[in-house]
Amino acid sequence: MKNHLIDLNDFSKSHWDEIIALGEKIMDNPHIYEGSCRGSIMGTLFYEPSTRTQMSFQSAMLRLGGGIIGFDNPTASSIVKGESLKDTVKIVSGYSDIMVMRHPVAGSVKAAAMSADCPIINAGDGGHLHPTQTLTDMLTLRKEKGRLNNLKIGICGDLKYGRTVHSLVKALSCYENNSFVFISTDELQMPSYITAPLANHRKSDSLDEVIGELDVLYMTRIQRERFPSEAEYEKQSSRYILDMEKLDKGRSDLIVLHPLPRLNEIAVEVDDDPRALYFKQANYGMYVRMALILIILNYDIEPPVLIKGRVYEGVKCENEKCILQTEPHLKHSFIENSDKTLTCEYCEARK
Ligand code: CP
Repeated sequence: MKNHLIDLNDFSKSHWDEIIALGEKIMDNPHIYEGSCRGSIMGTLFYEPSTRTQMSFQSAMLRLGGGIIGFDNPTASSIVKGESLKDTVKIVSGYSDIMVMRHPVAGSVKAAAMSADCPIINAGDGGHLHPTQTLTDMLTLRKEKGRLNNLKIGICGDLKYGRTVHSLVKALSCYENNSFVFISTDELQMPSYITAPLANHRKSDSLDEVIGELDVLYMTRIQRERFPSEAEYEKQSSRYILDMEKLDKGRSDLIVLHPLPRLNEIAVEVDDDPRALYFKQANYGMYVRMALILIILNYDIEPPVLIKGRVYEGVKCENEKCILQTEPHLKHSFIENSDKTLTCEYCEARK
């Protein structure tokens, strides 16, 4: 059993708090932790492009004294010869002490964990989850707002395909008295597996109307690469743009976050406003990833149970973006909800 990080909600809040607190300590005294991972190797398997996640993980491991191997272009690996996800992960995990993986298909990192011989961290699985971005966001909130509870959080843009906001809402809904305003078009609203368990949320299609109520505004990019067609993307792009005129309707203690990269959803003029914290947020990500690597490699944590549900006779996941469609060796396993619907164990699609 390995300390994989597939979904933050596989762990208790006390573990999240421990990672974030260690991230803060590292940020305050980084030299104390130099060499803490000497002799360890991190394998980075990026099947999708990345700047922040990949480089902050690599920088984190190098700052801890460890080494890195991996690829950021799968076509320069034996994947181009047809090697499966299962076999690639089996091999690289034999060369590594810890792995970080990003992949375009939902549930792929959980599938990878099942054949990995070392812990694996989810660096983004399709439009599903991005748990280390959420640790980054939580460290940012703790540093900049001083708390993770009693927050009104507006999340704006592509809530359907944006994996960062799925992980963020799942985590922040576990803290007391947080509420959410989901600001998007009807087509790009949050999936039901995120909203179904939520108590305190509402939808809006107008950033102008709600910005004045918020403690936190979390802007997101429209995820062009996940749309079925360019025409569908064009219909949704440029619908929400935060400029100074809009930001001036926000409170003075509002903070503006964005996982980045941004396109045009935040005007460059906003960058100089003290409420714009997205570049600082990206920097915090390196420290929280240092903390995560240290904890996974060195601490004795109860590992997550990978498969919690079971196979239901004749029931298959029909989400075409789920890893179950491309890895035939995996069983279609589901968790039963209180209303008798089923949640796919890999991509969380409900049926
Ligand atoms: N926030 C984020 O995941 O950025 P990258 O895609 O550059 O890693």
